[in-house]
Amino acid sequence: MKKNDCLSAELRVLDDCFRVTIIEMKDIAEKFHEAMLDGLTRLKGPLKMLPSFFNIPTGEENGVFLSVDFGGTNVRVSLIKLLGDGEITVLKKRSTLLKDPGGSYDYTSSAATGRELFSFLAEQIVELVGANETVPLGLTFSFPTEMQASNKAVLIAWTKEFNTRMVEGRDINLLLHDALQGRGLHGIMPVAVINDTVGTLLTAAYVNPNADIGSICGTGHNTCYFEPLPPRQPGPMIINIESGNFNGLPTNDFDRYLDLHSEKPGEQVLEKMVSGRYLGELMRLVVLDLVHKGCLFPGRGSDMTGFPFQTNSLSAEHISLMLGDESLGLSETAAWLKGSTGIEELSLPELSALKTIANLLTTRAARLVAATYAGVLRRLDPLLKRPHIIAVDGSLYEKMPGFATNLRLAMDDVLQDRSGQVTLKITKDGSGMGAAIAAAVAGAFK
Ligand code: BGC
Repeated sequence: MKKNDCLSAELRVLDDCFRVTIIEMKDIAEKFHEAMLDGLTRLKGPLKMLPSFFNIPTGEENGVFLSVDFGGTNVRVSLIKLLGDGEITVLKKRSTLLKDPGGSYDYTSSAATGRELFSFLAEQIVELVGANETVPLGLTFSFPTEMQASNKAVLIAWTKEFNTRMVEGRDINLLLHDALQGRGLHGIMPVAVINDTVGTLLTAAYVNPNADIGSICGTGHNTCYFEPLPPRQPGPMIINIESGNFNGLPTNDFDRYLDLHSEKPGEQVLEKMVSGRYLGELMRLVVLDLVHKGCLFPGRGSDMTGFPFQTNSLSAEHISLMLGDESLGLSETAAWLKGSTGIEELSLPELSALKTIANLLTTRAARLVAATYAGVLRRLDPLLKRPHIIAVDGSLYEKMPGFATNLRLAMDDVLQDRSGQVTLKITKDGSGMGAAIAAAVAGAFK
C-alpha cells in the first residue's frame, strides 16, 4: 500500500477506536451514577466519594486569607481578600514549578520527601508575605485525601505520577503546620484543606448559588458536587468524587499499554484517558504505532531519537500547538517536529494526520468527561428541573483549542432537550481562590 493510502486507512481505524457515540455516553453516564451510589452508600467501587466537610458558601464571607494551591504542576501562593457580596480580589500572588525543567530540584518524585516538599511550600509563603504575617491559611491539595475534619486530610494515594516519599498515609495539614513552625511562621494558621475541585465549586458558588458541580480538566481530572444527603455525615456537604478513578469505560490497546506502563496500573483509568498529564503520551503511542506500520515518516525509523520514540516526548502543550496551528502548510507543527525528530521533509498529509489524531484524542476526552457530568446531574436532578452551573478550572479546559467547545457539544448530545439547564462556567484560578473561602468557613462541621 502507498504511504498516503496506508495513512488514510489507519486514520479511519483510529477514528473508530476513539469515537464515543451518544449511546455510549448515555451508558457511561448510567454506570457513573451507579458507581456514585455504590461509593456513597456501600463505600465500594471505583469512586471514593470523599466527604469534604465544606458546604456551599453564602457569598457573604469576608476577610483576608492566604491560599496555597498545590496542583499537579505548580504551587501557587496568593493573598486573597474576600469582600462579601460574592467579590474576590487577589492582593498578591506567586507561582513556582514543583519540578525545575533544568533539573535542579524535583518535589514530584521519590527524589524528595514530604518534609522537603512542605518546607519548599513554606519557603514560597515567606517569599510572598514575609515571615511576620498573621493570617489564616487555606490549602488546596489536588490529590485524593481522606478528610477527617476541615483541617485534617490524610493523603490516600498519589496520582498524576507523583511519587514523593513519606506523604501517602500522612496528614497533609500537619505536614504543612510543622513546616510553617520549622520556618518560624508562627502567625500563619493552616485552618482548612480542600481538593481543587472543591475550591473551584466554592469559588463559583460564592458568586452564583446555582453552582453545584466543580471540576478540574487540567494536568489531572476530577469532579465534585454538592450532596444534600450524604450518608454517615453530619449534614449536606460537597463530595469529592475522585472521578479520575472511574473505570467503567471502553478502553483500547493504547489506553491499556499506557496504563500498564504508568506508576499505578489499574488506577485512575478515566484520568489516563482525559487529562493533560497523559494525553501527550497517549498520542505518542498512536503515532509510534503508525511509524512502526510504515504509514508515517517511512524509512526514517531506525535513526530517529526523541519524539515519537522516547517516552513522554509529547506533552499536552504540543497537542495544543498542533490543534491551534492555523498556519499555511501547518508550518508551526512542522517547525516543532523538525526540532524534535530532525526530519527535514515532512509532507502535508503527515502533518495533518497528526492534527487529526490530536483532535480524535481530545474530542474523546471531552465526551468522556461530559458523560460523567451527566452521571452527576442524574444524582442531583434527574429530570433537570432547575438550572445548574458546572464550574470548570484547569489548563485543558482553558487552553486546549476546541476542548471547551467539544465539551459543550457533548453535553448537548447527552442531555438533549434539557441541556439548556446546564451552564459550563470557566472558573479561572477557582481552585486557589476556593482555599481562601474554605479558610473563611472552616470549622462549620464539628
Ligand atoms: C486527583 C484529584 C484532583 C485531580 C485534578 C487527580 O489526579 O486525584 O484529587 O482533583 O487530579 O487536579
